[in-house]
Amino acid sequence: MLDVFIKPDFEHWRVAARSLLAAGKPPEAICWIEAGAQETMLPGFTSEATSFAEADTSAPVPKAFLQMADLASCFRESRRWPLLYRVLWRLTHGEPRLLQIVVDDDVYELMQMSKSVRRDAHKMKAFVRFRRLEVNGVEEFIAWHRPDHLIVPHVAPFFADRFAPMRWTILTPDASVSWDTRRLTYGPGVAVSTAPNQDPLEEIWKTYYASIFNPARLNISAMQKEMPQKHWRTLPEATLIPDLIHQAPKRVETMMKQAATQTNEAGDVKPVPATSAKDFLPKHRTLPQLREAAAVCKGCDLYCHATQTVFGQGPNRAKLMLIGEQPGDQEDLAGQPFVGPSGQLLDEALQAADIPRDEVYVTNAVKHFKFEPRGSRRIHAKPSSREVQACRPWLEAEIELVQPSLIVCLGATAAQTLLGAQFRLTKHRGEFLPSDWAPWLLATNHPAAILRVPDPKMRESSRQQFFDDLRLVADKLQGVTI
Ligand code: URA
Ligand code: SF4
Repeated sequence: MLDVFIKPDFEHWRVAARSLLAAGKPPEAICWIEAGAQETMLPGFTSEATSFAEADTSAPVPKAFLQMADLASCFRESRRWPLLYRVLWRLTHGEPRLLQIVVDDDVYELMQMSKSVRRDAHKMKAFVRFRRLEVNGVEEFIAWHRPDHLIVPHVAPFFADRFAPMRWTILTPDASVSWDTRRLTYGPGVAVSTAPNQDPLEEIWKTYYASIFNPARLNISAMQKEMPQKHWRTLPEATLIPDLIHQAPKRVETMMKQAATQTNEAGDVKPVPATSAKDFLPKHRTLPQLREAAAVCKGCDLYCHATQTVFGQGPNRAKLMLIGEQPGDQEDLAGQPFVGPSGQLLDEALQAADIPRDEVYVTNAVKHFKFEPRGSRRIHAKPSSREVQACRPWLEAEIELVQPSLIVCLGATAAQTLLGAQFRLTKHRGEFLPSDWAPWLLATNHPAAILRVPDPKMRESSRQQFFDDLRLVADKLQGVTI
């Protein structure tokens, strides 16, 4: 048995596998052992590796195998290495069409692995959300993500491409990667246990910068560029770091204050081109595909300041669709609609009407949080009609896919989006209106508006209307004629 130590990534496996193949070593003669880094490898490794590298010949294998193997090499379990070699061996030893036999155990396993990694990579591309921080005037974006597989190097080039002008870092439990606008730098992972409950990102950021990755070293060229030289030159790294960490919360606040205007790298105010969500709609439309595409929408300038896109949520063939106005502060952070105070009130009303929330598709007319910074708080700001129009393609696509029997518009924004600007909630609240969007549409009070009514008596009556309307909706859903 030959022990082969490899650094667990595709390139190292590939070099070793080619050499082993050239040396005629069959799969059953090899024991693949993962080594974290060259320094930690056992002594035998170096000589083996060298001889393999020297014997390197390129075995002709189908491109499809290389693509699948590239993905499967990110699979979290070490059984991927012997599997990959077994398939490679068989492909080059009398079974060139092996990949077409999808019922073959090895092929099936390889396909499952690559599929699982592909799905995980999609998820990471769609759901990583960056937090903006400022470090001495340098804008940094940081994100925390927990992928199922070891996909950081696989996905990092995508982020480098998509967010090329930003300085960003993605932390995962297995690895971290930073982009300084020019190159990717990989580092160790961040233990989940270091993630405290309250504000994980910020804390992780602190821990990360303090103990794992030296920010001054990481951003030395950025700091040279962005900070007055007299400061950075005279500051040794060691004193700079605690200082940065100490000031982090303050900088977040400053960042929030500045959030109303978008600035480019040089600090100039940059006008955001007005487009529409249409430019971002995917060709193939399923809810997950829409969600993924909406995650990177820049159809209006609201994406600049919000944390992330808050897409609709619920079963893909729900009978009932609820449409709010736009995510609030908590929704923006959680990435889910109606999870804050409005969501609580909505849950109560749904419960009172006996409508299970998990049977309802819940979304918003606008998918990004619009706010005005007030101190460290972010106060809801009403989306403009241009923003509502820009975002409308997402809503239309959601309705088209879900095909609800009944749509409930929560508040005037949603109702006017679907019924036109002349619609008056005060006139038609609680009425079942036929519409082009669904067999029935009803508009009712927005829970956030109810919560904002200053007079307690009027608030109670608005709440009562809301509860009554949802009961009507429940009856209608049961097919009861009202
Ligand atoms: N208000 C909305 O309109 N939508 C949400 O998701 C939360 C509050
Ligand atoms: Fe796109 Fe809508 Fe967000 Fe504007 S608000 S960026 S249109 S998803």
